[in-house]
Amino acid sequence: MSPDVPPVPPEFATTSSGRLTIVRGEGARLFDAAGRAYIDLGATHGVGNLGANPPEVVRAVERQMRELVHLGSGYANPVRTAFLERLLALLPPSFGSVFLSNSGTEAVEAAIKVARSVTGRPKVVAAMRGFHGRTMGSLSATWRREFREPFEPLVPGFVHVPYNDAAALDAAVDASTALVLLEPVQGEGGVHVASEAFLRAARAACDRTGALLAFDEVQCGLGRTGRLFAFERWGVVPDLLLLAKSLAGGLPIGATVIGREFVPRFRGSHHSTFGGSPLVCAAGLAALDQLVRDRLPERADRLGAVGLERLGSLPRERVREVRGLGLMIGVEFREKVGPILAGLESRGFLAIPAGATVLRLLPPLVITDAEWEAGLKAIEEVVAGG
Ligand SMILES: Cc1ncc(COP(=O)(O)O)c(C=O)c1O
Repeated sequence: MSPDVPPVPPEFATTSSGRLTIVRGEGARLFDAAGRAYIDLGATHGVGNLGANPPEVVRAVERQMRELVHLGSGYANPVRTAFLERLLALLPPSFGSVFLSNSGTEAVEAAIKVARSVTGRPKVVAAMRGFHGRTMGSLSATWRREFREPFEPLVPGFVHVPYNDAAALDAAVDASTALVLLEPVQGEGGVHVASEAFLRAARAACDRTGALLAFDEVQCGLGRTGRLFAFERWGVVPDLLLLAKSLAGGLPIGATVIGREFVPRFRGSHHSTFGGSPLVCAAGLAALDQLVRDRLPERADRLGAVGLERLGSLPRERVREVRGLGLMIGVEFREKVGPILAGLESRGFLAIPAGATVLRLLPPLVITDAEWEAGLKAIEEVVAGG
């Protein structure tokens, strides 16, 4: 390739040659073609809360493949009903309906449409450093300039306030606001945990103006922060809850959970052909069962506390800050994180960045104590080594 031809981003590549090739997974381990094991400290971008191909999800999918793979939302299906009932039973009674789709960004798009339709208002208030997806609506709520600029003009009506600035949020929410959209813990933006004052201010501002409050728990939900849903930490209940990533144990899913009072006020239509297929619902049901039965949120709480304490002792000359909640941890370096990731990979540990300087740890919640210990030790060694 000539040097002035820009490299093809991996998402558009026709081949993955030259990059680490992974062919198999089991629990927190991923294996390359030669059989070398890597411990996955990034849960394949937060999808693998239950690890790679969780056996109970695999069995449920195998069974459902033989029964019925796909069915339009116009027909009832017992597996879909069981999954929706299970999900709603785990949530406060104010939630009454779920729109099922195929990804996090679709869950966000549906929230924007519900809020605009229900309120008849245009404005969406989101947070600086927030990430909500890459389709045009969710991208308009996403903060980072590099993600947005090449695709402008985006959807009008979106404003951003500083994360954890309760006064700025309160000032931004007015009679034209349809939706306040926030991550209780920001992931892509560098792992920042919301303050209780900020989330309470968001709830109060929505109550004051009639705007809807949506929590985007696509990354921080489903046990990751040490609670089944992150909002339980603060006791602030949103009107819309957005889930995706690990909800179906690795199969593509998005869910927009909607407060029961809003559904009758929805005008217009919304739909997604593949959303809520019996196959994905069977996977989702098995995944929720395992998450709850094996008390994985508690496990995330315990292992996360160990991790935060250990990583908190990393040398301050290289590490600016360590922050997080449960097994969602960010280590902010005073330097670029690329070499740290490369050092970890060479030792057999895969992790992901959040921006240029933050090492993001989202290990599967089923990671064993020994694997987590090995991961923490590898980080300490890489940071000490160069
Ligand atoms: C908080 C949050 N919202 C939305 C999304 C978009 O999800 P998806 O990539 O499934 O569209 C992500 C993806 O990382 C996310 O972290």
